[in-house]
Amino acid sequence: MNNPFIINTYKSRELFCDRENELQLMLRNSINHTDMTLISQRRMGKTGLILRLFDEIATVHPDIHTIYLDIFSSRNIDDFIKLLAEATMKSFKPKTTIGEKLMTFIKTMRPQLTFDNITGEPQLMIAYQSPHEKEYTLRGLLEFLDSQEVPIIIAIDEFQQIRDYPEKNMEALLRTYIQQTSNLTFIYCGSKKHLMADIFNNEKKPFYSSTSFVSLGKISAESYSSFIQRLFNEYDRDIDVEAIDFILDWTRRHTYYTQQLCHTIFADGEHHIGISEVKAACEQLMQQGEAIYLQYRQMLTVKQWSYLIAVAKEGTVSQITAAGFLSRHKLGSASTSQRLADALCDKGLLNDDISVKETTYSVNDVFFSHWLERL
Ligand SMILES: Nc1ncnc2c1ncn2[C@@H]1O[C@H](COP(=O)(O)OP(=O)(O)O)[C@@H](O)[C@H]1O
Ligand SMILES: [Mg+2]
Repeated sequence: MNNPFIINTYKSRELFCDRENELQLMLRNSINHTDMTLISQRRMGKTGLILRLFDEIATVHPDIHTIYLDIFSSRNIDDFIKLLAEATMKSFKPKTTIGEKLMTFIKTMRPQLTFDNITGEPQLMIAYQSPHEKEYTLRGLLEFLDSQEVPIIIAIDEFQQIRDYPEKNMEALLRTYIQQTSNLTFIYCGSKKHLMADIFNNEKKPFYSSTSFVSLGKISAESYSSFIQRLFNEYDRDIDVEAIDFILDWTRRHTYYTQQLCHTIFADGEHHIGISEVKAACEQLMQQGEAIYLQYRQMLTVKQWSYLIAVAKEGTVSQITAAGFLSRHKLGSASTSQRLADALCDKGLLNDDISVKETTYSVNDVFFSHWLERL
């Protein structure tokens, strides 16, 4: 029996909770050729939402083509081109007109083309003579897509990765090529909020103000609650309302953690789920994480570790320089506190949630946060 609480990728709309507003907004932007930037904390559901959007488009606008690539693993412009070309090949099936034209075009890149034994997916190796040739290939690929005269949406996940490329002109190049297209709509997605904001919101940078922002917060308690109820019921399980409230509270409605906890409860196999079954699953998850949490401790200084515990004990901290917080946890001065918080955000262990009024800090990994609370 399949576990309906998915924890790795998008499966189907039945197993996907809500996001209706975001979906409609992104659908409208897609139809209107409005490029988008999708930013949120890690594991809130950006990738899932893009795949949900593409699923919707396949149903209601089958004329629009979609291409998804995740550039997290890319180290340079070569990798970027390779990932874009492979994603394009995956999107246009070989026996279609565009698919055939694409194969002809790909061959002009003189790649070594192989197919993965297991997935059957194309893998390209392209040898370049010069940096100029790479730029030419990248532009050629985008021009090829644009010249097909069909609307195409290209989602580039973990887009901030381009900031790590040795080619420092990557942003300017991409922006220039993209600006010259008219049938392509882009979705830039990323979890490193500060980098993403700098790429799209810094007037000195090429992508400044070129996209419409879509922000992704938490799913509402009402939606998540009925989603959880429905999925358990569909598998002949029943779950108490208090148990659901406990799940949403304990996981702070941070999508991945909510899904993971429900996944574990479901896997535990009880037919009636009350608070005690939920608590048992929470214990299980914290225990499973322990080896990694102890590795984090190795990575950090004693002060950073104590700081993490302090934030975890508070749950969320809106004023990290406030006297109360500093003295409660013996953290020293306000500037020390700010420095520690910045360093831990950089390492991805703390999350800073910036609103107009204040910046709220919390431990990024919800299960880790609960584990730290007890120290
Ligand atoms: N609306 C949703 N309903 C159910 N599960 C979701 C939803 N959004 C995301 N998920 C699941 O939560 C996890 C984290 O989501 P993901 O899209 O990978 O986050 P991000 O890309 O923001 O890091 C994934 O396992 C995904 O399947
Ligand atoms: Mg993602």
